[in-house]
Amino acid sequence: MPTLTAPLRKRLIQLARQTSKRAYAPYSHFQVGAAVLAGSGKVYTGCNVENASYGLCNCAERTAIFSAIAAGEKKIQCIAVYTPTSTATPPCGACRQVINEFGPTATVISTCKSTDLIETTLDALLPAAFGPENLS
Ligand code: THU
Repeated sequence: MPTLTAPLRKRLIQLARQTSKRAYAPYSHFQVGAAVLAGSGKVYTGCNVENASYGLCNCAERTAIFSAIAAGEKKIQCIAVYTPTSTATPPCGACRQVINEFGPTATVISTCKSTDLIETTLDALLPAAFGPENLS
């Protein structure tokens, strides 16, 4: 797995913020961006993509992860997320479950409009998770 160096961490945070500008969020007007550091060392980005059928909205985190998997990645080392809020907000439950699939101990960095930041790990956000090993 790649090492999460300080410059890489900074780049993930920058990319998450930049990618939030591409969000398709005409209903919530809540533009979120994410950047994933995958097992190969490459970085993948994503934004939330909403739909007129509201239940089909896809979060930025899952867009970034699905993009990484579609590119052939198998593991997630770190995910940085930007939300347009004044305090940092951790990922929703659905995204925690999806991160768990590919990065059960991944670093999760939540950033926002201010300098507030939460840095934690997926296993802290989703203890006793149900994962692939529970199906074997
Ligand atoms: N959203 C994300 O993309 N990521 C989060 O961590 C929180 C919520 C999106 C889903 C929806 O498009 C909008 O933000 C409002 O919930």
